[in-house]
Amino acid sequence: AEAVPFYGAHQAGIATPAQDRLAFGAFDITSRDKTAVQTMLARWAAAAAQLTRGEPVGAVDISPHAPPIDTGEAVGLPASQLTITVGFGPTLFDDRFGLSRYRPAALADIPPLPGDTLDPNRSGGDLCVQACANDPQVAFHVIRNFARLARGTAVLRWSQLGFGRTSSTSTSQDTPRNLMGFKDGTNNIKAEDTRSFDEFVWVGAETDQDWMRGGSYLVARRIRMLIENWDTDFLLDQEQVFGRFKTSGAPLTGKSESDTVNLAAKDGEGKPVIDLNAHIRLAAPATNGGQKLLRRGYSYTDGIDPQTGLLDAGLFFIVFQKDPRTQFVPIQRRLGGHDLLNEYIRHTGSGLFAVPPGLAEAGDYFGKALF
Ligand code: HEM
Repeated sequence: AEAVPFYGAHQAGIATPAQDRLAFGAFDITSRDKTAVQTMLARWAAAAAQLTRGEPVGAVDISPHAPPIDTGEAVGLPASQLTITVGFGPTLFDDRFGLSRYRPAALADIPPLPGDTLDPNRSGGDLCVQACANDPQVAFHVIRNFARLARGTAVLRWSQLGFGRTSSTSTSQDTPRNLMGFKDGTNNIKAEDTRSFDEFVWVGAETDQDWMRGGSYLVARRIRMLIENWDTDFLLDQEQVFGRFKTSGAPLTGKSESDTVNLAAKDGEGKPVIDLNAHIRLAAPATNGGQKLLRRGYSYTDGIDPQTGLLDAGLFFIVFQKDPRTQFVPIQRRLGGHDLLNEYIRHTGSGLFAVPPGLAEAGDYFGKALF
């Protein structure tokens, strides 16, 4: 399973098993020419089809007197389960390109949320490209070559590398650990659960924009962990923050990772076993009107914070959903206000993107219905 099919009803990189590495890029369009944007999206689509097969975007040795068409660093590397997922930010639908009538209501700007410490230079973007692969060079190669193909039309606004998946998206995958040392992804939506995908992830007949049917909405949050503080916290408190045991991943009301969480359980003194502000209580569907999210995030590190000398590392959180207004936004509003985890994290970047459905065949391109 080296190559993941690029064409299909949905874009790959959502329901397909989470790979180990991420390169994510948010782009700003610099051109005012709608046709240039259309051409770029078509070039990206053709390139994505090649790259996900493990091929370069063009010849490296085209001519001794011309720059190679592909930058070359992935030559000889296998497809590495590469997936390339493209999305459209709210700003793509402003007045510049006459696309405002295509803006889905669900692509409403994320309102300010409690605890936000967002850096505008790590937030927003007209377009996003999520490249996931099992080889970091294969993933980075995509962002680099997409930026090159975009030259004159769009520029990178911000980018993020992720070095390890923090979710499992299939029952066949082990649950990985995040940088806090906890198993992450236990109660995630799994690809085998197609009913939950239809109910919570894929845009369906409810949309006001037919071009989004079969697509999804991506929310990205760069969440820095205050690692040094976390590492001084005692084990029992760490476990109470999440509501799970650190080593086994079991809920505090159970023995093994897959045990059902019992939010009602009380201890001998009548206190809830899982704290009222524990992460898994506040995030659970049971306390959020039944809403679920597909989590597909990655651990990141960007070296050292020059102001403090502390590690700049954490979780590049990515979620897919049918409608952020009823999923990410209200859940994060609760978490941002009350989660015990807040003592140890800061949200430092944010992005929202409408991810159109999959491409049908060669010649099809991202957002074709908009042009
Ligand atoms: C569950 C970690 C941020 C939504 C969990 C679990 C861990 C975890 C360890 C328990 C295992 C599991 O079921 O996956 C973290 C860390 C975060 C973070 C370290 C930040 C650095 C968020 C955010 C959201 C979120 C921002 C949504 C806005 C959820 C959900 C669950 C969950 C929905 C499943 C709850 C359940 O149904 O049991 N998270 N998380 N998490 N998290 Fe987070």
